[in-house]
Amino acid sequence: MSPFLCVIFLLCLSTLATATKFDQVYEWDELDYEWPAEANRTKSLIDGTFKPEEMSPLYMAVFGSRLFLSLGSYNGIPVSLVTVPTSSTSTKNPKLTPFPSWDLHDYGKEGDCNKIEVAAGLQVDSIGRLWVLDSGSSECKAKLWIIDLINNDHTKLIHQFVFRNWMHDLVLDETADGTFAYISRWGESHIVVFNLKRKRSWMVYTPPKIQVISIAISPNLEEPRKLYLGKWISEEVYSISAATLRSGLTRRVKPKLIGKWKTTDPYRMLIDNQGTMYSAFVFSNNTQSWNTSQPFQAQLFHEDEAAGLDSLFPFTIALDQNESIWLTVEHERSQKPRYRLLKVAVGEKSNDVLPGLPYSHLN
Ligand SMILES: *[C@@H]1O[C@H](CO)[C@@H](O)[C@H](O)[C@H]1NC(C)=O
Ligand SMILES: *[C@@H]1O[C@H](CO)[C@@H](O)[C@H](O)[C@H]1NC(C)=O
Ligand SMILES: *[C@@H]1O[C@H](CO)[C@@H](O)[C@H](O)[C@H]1NC(C)=O
Ligand SMILES: *[C@@H]1O[C@H](CO)[C@@H](O)[C@H](O)[C@H]1NC(C)=O
Repeated sequence: MSPFLCVIFLLCLSTLATATKFDQVYEWDELDYEWPAEANRTKSLIDGTFKPEEMSPLYMAVFGSRLFLSLGSYNGIPVSLVTVPTSSTSTKNPKLTPFPSWDLHDYGKEGDCNKIEVAAGLQVDSIGRLWVLDSGSSECKAKLWIIDLINNDHTKLIHQFVFRNWMHDLVLDETADGTFAYISRWGESHIVVFNLKRKRSWMVYTPPKIQVISIAISPNLEEPRKLYLGKWISEEVYSISAATLRSGLTRRVKPKLIGKWKTTDPYRMLIDNQGTMYSAFVFSNNTQSWNTSQPFQAQLFHEDEAAGLDSLFPFTIALDQNESIWLTVEHERSQKPRYRLLKVAVGEKSNDVLPGLPYSHLN
């Protein structure tokens, strides 16, 4: 590249970098619930069933004026699915409201398979239904819930799977023949397909060396739709056709390697309507993006100097109906605030420069 082009290019990058505007919506020093009474909170703190310092957001979905989070922890987390409003006059330490209610969670009722046990991946479909993966427990199989957000949060346990544990993320494929969910489990060499119309689920196996972590789907407007798979302990991204999964006849697929992120373990990937894919990585202080209409090329989307490198999953990412991006950031344990919720407004998305990393378009 000529020095002249290089100067132009750097100028362009700095313009782009300043164009990305992340507005802070909330910050939390500590996560806490809206408890029925202070006595419940005190009791749970004392008996160790509630350990606020152990809780962290793992999945997020946004619909209308509500934001939903699945919380992860090894223990000490009474309720794993909560909601907060998308805006409030008070931006510090908003309380998390158990969703859809305290009563639909297994807190104090462990082993009740009709309750939400361990909420994982979240998605909202085009008619305002929140799909919630639930990993189950040693007593209960993994499950799928559908909560109708525009109909009084009517909640239905839609399916019980034949397996338990390791539920991670899902994407939805709304077709003329009904809605399908494609589900990834932590590090498993398969994806789970669920057909809503027939209320059936089955596994589709990838080769043993392709252990899947994250899953993303190309925009609905595009046919054939593609599924993208992020590989466990790897930078690699693979793709397969969504259509081959719908019939239920295909039980083995050979995903195609399409590229590599700059960082390993892309635990969360998602694609907006413009076809830009975003990804977050284990123990990494950045999120990256790729324009899926172009050959694979990772760009920095956001780098956060406070993102905790002691956090396994420092970010959660979601898109709302207006195509704004929502991001939670977890900081190091010793820091305050410990968590922040950021929003990138529509039309203000662009890529920053990923420092110190080579970019193929520079060559
Ligand atoms: C709160 O405490 C009351 C009284 O002990 C109890 O009946 C109720 O189940 C508790 N609720 C929660 C969510 O802990
Ligand atoms: C999307 O935009 C509409 C119209 O401006 C607004 O009413 C709605 O609250 C927005 N949704 C979100 C999640 O911000
Ligand atoms: C992605 O790439 C395509 C093809 O080069 C281009 O037309 C489109 O504007 C790009 N999208 C974004 C969001 O930059
Ligand atoms: C992100 O982490 C890397 C180390 O992995 C560090 O070199 C870099 O400075 C960090 N970025 C920011 C903005 O703090």
